Amino acid sequence: ETTVTVTPATLDFTAVAKNRNDLVTVPAGYLVTVLYRLGDPISANTPAYANDGSDANFAMRAGDHHDGMSFFGLAASGATPDASASTRGVLVMNHENITENYLHPRGQTTTGGVRPEAEAIKEIEAHGVSVIEVTRGASAWSYVQASALNRRITPNTPMAFSGPAKGSAMLRTVYSKDGTQGRGTINNCANGAMPWGTYATAEENWAGYFRRNRGDAAGRTAAGQAKENTSLSRYGISEGRTGNYGWTTVTPADSSSTIFSKWNATAAADAAADGSADFRHEPFQYGWIVEIDPYNPQSTPRKRTALGRMNHEGVSAGRMIAGVKPAFYMGDDSQNEYIYKFVSNTGWSAADGTAADRLAVGDKYLDAGTLYVAKFNADGSGQWLPLVFGSGPLTSGNATYPFADQADVLINARIAGDLLGATPMDRPEWTAVNPANGEMYCTLTNNSSRSVSRTDAANPRSYVDPRTDGRSNSVGNVNGHVIRLRENGDTTEATAFTWDVYAFGAGSDLNKDNINLSGLDDSNDFSSPDGLWFSLPSNVAGQGANPVMWLQTDDGAYTDVTNCMMLAAIPGRVGDGGTKTVNNSTPAGTSTATTRVGKAPGATLKRFLVGPKECEITGITSTPDGKALFVNIQHPGENGGPDNITSSWPASQTGTPASPSRPRSATIVITRQDGGLVGI
Ligand code: FEO
Ligand code: CA
Ligand code: CA
Ligand code: CA
Repeated sequence: ETTVTVTPATLDFTAVAKNRNDLVTVPAGYLVTVLYRLGDPISANTPAYANDGSDANFAMRAGDHHDGMSFFGLAASGATPDASASTRGVLVMNHENITENYLHPRGQTTTGGVRPEAEAIKEIEAHGVSVIEVTRGASAWSYVQASALNRRITPNTPMAFSGPAKGSAMLRTVYSKDGTQGRGTINNCANGAMPWGTYATAEENWAGYFRRNRGDAAGRTAAGQAKENTSLSRYGISEGRTGNYGWTTVTPADSSSTIFSKWNATAAADAAADGSADFRHEPFQYGWIVEIDPYNPQSTPRKRTALGRMNHEGVSAGRMIAGVKPAFYMGDDSQNEYIYKFVSNTGWSAADGTAADRLAVGDKYLDAGTLYVAKFNADGSGQWLPLVFGSGPLTSGNATYPFADQADVLINARIAGDLLGATPMDRPEWTAVNPANGEMYCTLTNNSSRSVSRTDAANPRSYVDPRTDGRSNSVGNVNGHVIRLRENGDTTEATAFTWDVYAFGAGSDLNKDNINLSGLDDSNDFSSPDGLWFSLPSNVAGQGANPVMWLQTDDGAYTDVTNCMMLAAIPGRVGDGGTKTVNNSTPAGTSTATTRVGKAPGATLKRFLVGPKECEITGITSTPDGKALFVNIQHPGENGGPDNITSSWPASQTGTPASPSRPRSATIVITRQDGGLVGI
């Protein structure tokens, strides 16, 4: 086994105070550079962004709602990968969603229920992924507008299906009659950097973009339609709507275009029995982890079906140890959904880390293996339950949902998880693995449907927000928590684990017996944990390795006190805090849960950053030397509009604009004035 030498580190900064300023605030001694904003051009001949709603061609501009992000090092020139490079690289990031109010001159336009084509094209292209070259200059980091490596991947970009569901009857559409090709990716939330130099992006809230009414059984048997309806409902594809932003209502100037109609998954009149003549199967083409080669702009992204279909938040690789089958951890972010891991069939070979055909390495480790779902027991143990066709309840004879094959199990991973008895969690968001010891952390952001009668050891809190002011998310697990697990034998191949709760989100002033269970104070109290990542500045001479865990928030419960934030942590180990009893009380009744907790974090958890108004902090990566930290600021001023601009960030970062300036999601770079490591 490889072990990481850990030099005991302390968090070497003064905690940033909670605040509601229209600024990114960082500790004294640190610098913030705004790097890449909504609309910034990524080719030489794309004009600068006017930021007044008039701009077009988002296929060659930064998209909106920057989210998960990874840095991939480059040699001094060309497109040669160099995993240790810290002054030049490709930065890859997700654009999860859009704020329509600022994309158009006057917000969304709809005439007689129909959206104008030009607006819909902008909105579609503002989703997806950016690949951009970034460099460190004499004074600051910048992106290279004319780089040949720059690329936008959008909901229109061709994709290839890969793994067991490739070619499944459920993936056939008029676009790909054999179910092997896909078109686009959407609602890309968190991410993962694969250890062989690729980027994995996660399709999260894709279901809402579709129009999909039932009663469209053309060509189907009644049993087949009933089964499909079970699946559509389990994945939250609702009826009687046009889909987010109404793209299905557009009449394109080019009548052969299907980029709008593909979101209309309700049956067409010419429906064929196998679904290959219409768009009914388009919703099955989404909900996947998609692998992208960041160094090759001509490469076709691959949808990795072995990792299952869900509201994928992100994916993080466990430790890569020669000869040991690697694991990839994932959350399914919806209320009461599950935590998953995928274990490859093949043990890790270090030579694959520098192979030239990176997507072929992805084929090797991500197409063949076992997908597991997590069950958390009250005694602090847990099991990984395999989603394997023919095993346990996952058979063709199952009365709830008769599975046809492994592709059906993966396409309907949630239904398989239900049948296996997985533990419903308080919205699993990001996962992250501590590189020093292999322990896996997962943020559970909050859960307004965690009623007192449904608390359990791993999701133990249900309470009324003492700060409630009529917000909808004010009951249940209001502030979220961070759970972590240690694999038995400390191996990624384990099928059992132990777990505890690293920290519970809460205001520092709240009840320490039942809400603020981790004893958070003014320097580290937080709510709604979401982004989570370990940095490992491992190549700094004399420093050893100092894994720092970065925790980001996407909150609506504590925002009357502070904007969203990012904290740094030097976490302990699973089981270092013992047990705790939580007495829950809401108008619906009372419950008691005994949970497993980590040691109170104290000074090992500190607030490092507070964002501007109405933003979420999400997306983080760093150069390998740990001296430049890239962070995304998502949807500042999201509650405003053209006549009511509620944030002028990022213009507000470098001065006070003379008049309100439309806010833009953006990537920032954080460096230390003395050129040292960020955070420690
Ligand atoms: Fe896109 Fe679950 O956050
Ligand atoms: Ca998230
Ligand atoms: Ca979130
Ligand atoms: Ca958001």
